[in-house]
Amino acid sequence: MSSGVKMNFEKIAEEIGKEVEESVKSLINTEKGRKVIKIGADGTPTKYIDFVAEKSIIEYIDTNDLQCELISEEIGVYRRGREFKIIADPIDGTNNACYGIPFFSVSLAFYREKQEFAFVKNLANGDIFKADKHAYLNNKRIKPYNSEIISLYTFSDITPFLEVSRKIRNFGSQALELCFVACGKSKAFIDVRNRGRIIDIAAAKYIIEKAGGVLTDLEGRDISIEAKNFSFVASCSMEIQRKIINIIKSKKY
Ligand code: IPD
Ligand code: CA
Repeated sequence: MSSGVKMNFEKIAEEIGKEVEESVKSLINTEKGRKVIKIGADGTPTKYIDFVAEKSIIEYIDTNDLQCELISEEIGVYRRGREFKIIADPIDGTNNACYGIPFFSVSLAFYREKQEFAFVKNLANGDIFKADKHAYLNNKRIKPYNSEIISLYTFSDITPFLEVSRKIRNFGSQALELCFVACGKSKAFIDVRNRGRIIDIAAAKYIIEKAGGVLTDLEGRDISIEAKNFSFVASCSMEIQRKIINIIKSKKY
């Protein structure tokens, strides 16, 4: 794609989503898919299914001559050009995919000077969350809602969070779980493990914000794309966000 051509990030995202989906289909819940083949650029093990999913994204970029930079979990940086940037997690929820638990996704965030588009596809059921100026689930506008459910990732005591909700979940794909906050299935998402990675949250953060929700670090600040090993909270409203951050601070997570 040459410069000056209007980028259709939505089309690119949907096509990449299909490529990834096709490429991993035969590897879900298989020994072959689960095999660790190397340590990825992010320092965590790359399973064969992760490698295949990422390869399909790179092949799409090459075949379509996209002049972009890809930041992705296994490869780190792949630069074919500088017209735009994609921050990708080829499979978010690798362990779910490896054991046939139907909750894993591909996550793609598109940037020029600033972020312009975000796409998260549930590869198990085909649901597509996306955001441009607004946020959508399967092409219907979405907004957050003060539901009863929260997602919680912690290595410590969960009881302080019972004050927010007793319906605590952990589904295993952060990108999708954050989209649940965007569309009102969950009221909040909490990760206090100091393990946050931008590739997992880049697309979903934009989807939450465009839906009208909020995602910040534990100081209530925005999270930059350079951030590493952070804890973070997303909520349906500022009121809930403040309440959760206060609980975390008072318990010294
Ligand atoms: C993981 C998932 C999981 C979370 C991990 C992430 P991956 O991403 O989002 O829910 O607990 O911290 O690393 O490794 O499947 O891309
Ligand atoms: Ca991944």
